[in-house]
Amino acid sequence: MTTLMAGTPAYLTDFGRCVGALPPRAAVRTDAPTLELTGTWRFLLSPDPTRAPDGFWAPDFDDAHWAQLPVPSSWPMHGHGAPAYTNIRYPFPVDPPYLPAENPIGDHRVTFGVPAQWAGQRAVLRFDGVDSCGRVWLNGVELGVTQGSRLPVEFDATAALRPGEHNVLAVRVHQWSAGSYLEDQDMWWLPGIFRPVTLQLRPAGGIADVFVHAGFDHRTGTGTLRVQAPPGARLTAPELGLRDAPADSPHAIPGVRPWSAESPALYDLAVSTATETARLRVGFRTVAIVDGLLTVNGRRIQLRGVNRHEFHPDLGRVVPAEVVRAELELMKRHHVNAIRTSHYPPHPQVLELADELGFWLIDECDLETHGFSEVGWRGNPADDPRWRDACLDRMRRMVERDKNHPCVILWSLGNEAGTGANLAAMADWARSRDPGRPIHYEGDGDCRYVDVYSRMYASPEEVEAIGRGENPDQARRALPFILCEYAHAMGNGPGRLAEYERLFDTYPRCQGGFVWEWIDHGIRRRTADGREYFAYGGDFGESLHDGNFVIDGLVFPDRTPSPALAELAAVYAPVRLEFTGDGRLRVSNRYALRDLAGVRFDWQCAAEGEPVAHGVLAVPELAAGAATTVPLPPLPEPPAETWFTVTATTVADGPGLPAGSVLGLAQTQVRPAPPAPRPAGARVRREADGLLRLGPAVFEPRYGRLVRLGELEVAGPRLDVWRAPIDNDRLGPDPLERRWRALGLDRMTHRLRELAIDGDELVSVTRVAPAGGDLALLVTCRWSADADSLGLTATVVPLGEWSVPLPRAGMRLSVPGRLGEVEWFGGGPGEAYADSRAAVRIDRFAASVDELQTPYVYPQENGNRTAVRWARLRAPDGSGLRITGHPTVEFSARRWSSEQLDRARHTTDLVAGERVVVNLDVAQQGLGSAACGPGPAPGDVLAARPFTLSFSLRMEP
Ligand code: GAL
Repeated sequence: MTTLMAGTPAYLTDFGRCVGALPPRAAVRTDAPTLELTGTWRFLLSPDPTRAPDGFWAPDFDDAHWAQLPVPSSWPMHGHGAPAYTNIRYPFPVDPPYLPAENPIGDHRVTFGVPAQWAGQRAVLRFDGVDSCGRVWLNGVELGVTQGSRLPVEFDATAALRPGEHNVLAVRVHQWSAGSYLEDQDMWWLPGIFRPVTLQLRPAGGIADVFVHAGFDHRTGTGTLRVQAPPGARLTAPELGLRDAPADSPHAIPGVRPWSAESPALYDLAVSTATETARLRVGFRTVAIVDGLLTVNGRRIQLRGVNRHEFHPDLGRVVPAEVVRAELELMKRHHVNAIRTSHYPPHPQVLELADELGFWLIDECDLETHGFSEVGWRGNPADDPRWRDACLDRMRRMVERDKNHPCVILWSLGNEAGTGANLAAMADWARSRDPGRPIHYEGDGDCRYVDVYSRMYASPEEVEAIGRGENPDQARRALPFILCEYAHAMGNGPGRLAEYERLFDTYPRCQGGFVWEWIDHGIRRRTADGREYFAYGGDFGESLHDGNFVIDGLVFPDRTPSPALAELAAVYAPVRLEFTGDGRLRVSNRYALRDLAGVRFDWQCAAEGEPVAHGVLAVPELAAGAATTVPLPPLPEPPAETWFTVTATTVADGPGLPAGSVLGLAQTQVRPAPPAPRPAGARVRREADGLLRLGPAVFEPRYGRLVRLGELEVAGPRLDVWRAPIDNDRLGPDPLERRWRALGLDRMTHRLRELAIDGDELVSVTRVAPAGGDLALLVTCRWSADADSLGLTATVVPLGEWSVPLPRAGMRLSVPGRLGEVEWFGGGPGEAYADSRAAVRIDRFAASVDELQTPYVYPQENGNRTAVRWARLRAPDGSGLRITGHPTVEFSARRWSSEQLDRARHTTDLVAGERVVVNLDVAQQGLGSAACGPGPAPGDVLAARPFTLSFSLRMEP
C-alpha cells in the first residue's frame, strides 16, 4: 500500500511545541529601538483550510482583495467566522494531538518600513499572543511557529529583515492546534493575533534578560536588591542611592519603603550596559510561608480577590489599555486586593498596573485540559511524557516574562488540568528558577507539588472545618488554605459572601479567596430594530455550547457594576465598624500592612432619612490589624425612626482610590419607628352594582379581589410564590427550578373558598394550588380600612407535605403604568436578598421603576428592595399609591410580570406593559451559589411554613 495522505502540517500535531522560538526572557521597557506592528493588516479567513491560498507569504503576493483587519484582534469579533462558547467540553473530538479537518485558517499580512540604520544589527520579532498557532514568514522567509496562545514568542528576524526597505510579515493562524488541547479554559473560543506584535533591535552587548530580586526584611526595615543581568551591567536608582552601581552584587538598602498591595511603593531602576538600558519599577517585598501561613513582609495577608479573564464585549480578548486601567481602578474602589489571572498570563500591561495600583497576583499558566474529564482523563496531556516539553515551555515563558513584578506572589501551574508528572515538573522548574515565590495549583488535591492548599467552591461549612484543622491529611493541614474560586457570581448572586469573609477573619490559615469571576463575557449585539443586548453561548449557532454559563461576573459585559460588586465592596471593606451595644463603636483596621492614617470617621443621625445631626468621630490612628473602641456622641431622639450611620473615608487620593472613598460603613438604630396603626373604623358596604366597598377600596365578590382604591385601579393583591428563577435556582446538580416547575409553582390557580364580613373586616379565604396535584396554600386575607387607607393582613398556611422551599412568599398587585417613580424608606440603594445585604443601609431613596431593574444578561428575578418601611409609587403629577409595611415588606416593582421575566432569554425580550407589577413579600429564597457551589445557608432557605404579611395601601391624590 502506498500512503498518499498529505495530512495537516506536522507542527499542528507536534504536542504543542513552538518551532524556532528564542529562549524566553523578561518583558521590560528598554531603549532598544522598537517598532510596533499593530495597525490595519490584510486578512483572509479560510473556514475550509484546504482553500487557504498557497504562497500567500511571498512578499509580492497580491492581497489587494483581502479584508482589512485591525491587529491585535480576535477575528470573529470583526465579522469573520463566529465566536463559540464551551465550558468543559472541547469543541473538537478528544483525539490528541490531532484536530479535525474543519480547522479554519486566518491568513494575515502587513507591510512596514524598517529604518536603514537597523542594518547589520540583530532584530527579534515578538508576538505577545496568538490564538492558537501562528506560522510566521518575514519577507518570504519562514521564522517559525507559535503555540501557547497567551504567552509571548520571539523569533530571530535578523537574516530575513530588510532595513531601509518595505518588509512583509505574513502569519498563518490556525484556529486549532495541538496546543488547543492545553487551552480548554471556560471562555469563548476566539482565534486571532490578539496581543501586540513588535520588532525590536537587540544591540550587541545589550540586556538580553534581567531578573530583579528585591526582598524586604521586616525586622530591620532593610531592602535587598540583587539583579541578575548580563556581565558588566550597572544599576541606577537615585531614590535608592544607587548610581552606576554594579548589578552583580547584592545591595542592602536601609529604610526602604516596602511594596504591598496596600501601599504599592515602587522605585525606578535602570539596568544598563554600554549599548542598552532597561527600565524597571522595583517593589521590595518578601513572600514566605511561615508556620503554615502565607506572609508578605512578615505579615499574614488575606486575599480579597477576583478571578479576572481578559474580555471585551466588542473586541473579544483584546482589551484596550485605558479599559484595563479603568477596570483595575474599579476593582480597587471595591476593595478587591487580589487578582487571579484566570486562567492564563494576562497582557503584560496588567502586571505593570497591578504593581502600580497594588494587587496581590496569582499569575496562572496558560494550561487547562478540563475536557479530558469527559473521557475519564484518559490521555491527559498533563501526565503524558509527549506533552512534557510543551507544559514546561509554557511555565518557563510565564515565569521568565513576569518574574520582575512585585505583584506576583504565587505562580499557578494552570487550571483544571487533572494531575500528573508534567505539572510536577513545572512546579520543580519554577521553584528552582524562582525560589522567591510559592506554587499554586488547585488540581493537586493531595498537595504533592504545591505550596498552598487551594480549593474551589468549598461550602462555608467545609471552609470552617478546614479552618479548625479538621481536614484529614497532615500534608494539607500544614499549608495555608485559599479558595482560588468561590462565590460563583452568575446572574443574581452570589449569596453568602459575608459568611465566607467571617471565616477568613476567624481562622488564620483560611487566607481568603477569589470570587468567580470578575466579568460577564457577553458579546454585544443588536436586534433588527437596533436594541442592544449581550449574547452568550448558543447565540452564534454553535452546535455544542454551554449557554449563559459564561455570564458569571461581578460586572456586566460593558463593565458596569452589578449589585454583587457593591455587596463585595461592603464585605471586603478594609475598615470594619461594629456597634458594641453599649454606646460604643468598635473600629478594626483590616489592612495587613497599613495603618489608618488619613482616614476620617464621619457620623450622621437621620430621622426617617432626614439628617438631624452630624459630626466627626475621634478615632486614634490604628496600626495594621489593630482595633479599638470609641464612645458614640450624645444623640438626638426625634419622634421618628432614627438611624446613626458611621462612614470611614479616605482624606487624600491614594493609588486607585480617590479621596472620599468609603472604606467602611455601619449603622445602628437609635430609635425604632413609632407603631403605624393598621387602618380601622370603616365598615363594609354592599353596593347596588354588587361590588363591596370598604373605606376607599372597592372589591368584586366573585374572586374576592380588590379592584380600586379611590380613583386608582389597583388589581388585587393576591398570593404569589413564584419568581423568575435565578441562575442559582436553574443550574447545578439538583436545581430547585426543576422541582418548582414539576410541582407547578409557576402556574398556580386561585379558588375563593369564602368571602365574609367579620365585624369591620372583610375576610376572604382562597386556596392557591397548581394543576395536577393536591398541595396547596390557604390564604386568609383580613381587610380593614379607615377613610383613606386600606389595611391587609394575609395569613398563609401550606396544606399537604411540602418538600421544596418556596421561591418567594408574598402578595402581588398591579397599578397603572403611569406610576413610574418610586420613593421608599428602607433598605437601599441597591437590590438585596437574604444572603446578600451587606451593601444596604436604611435610608430614604428614590428611583424610577425602570431604574429598579437590574439588567442581568440572562433575565431573572432582580431588583428586590429589602426592609421597606414605606414606599410611594407616583405618577408625574404626584398622585399615586403609598404602601406602608407593618412593620416592613420586601418590595419590587417592574413593568412586566415574573412570568414574562421567566420567559425572557435576553434583556431585549422584556417589553414594558401597561401596568406596574408590585411584589410585597415576607421573604424570598436566598441566593446562594448553587449554579456552581453551595446553595443558600439553611437559615436562608424559604421553607414552606405558615407566614403572615401585613401592609396598608393609601391612594395619594
Ligand atoms: C471552575 C473553572 C472556571 C469556571 C467555573 C464555573 O471550575 O475553573 O474556569 O468554569 O468553574 O464558572
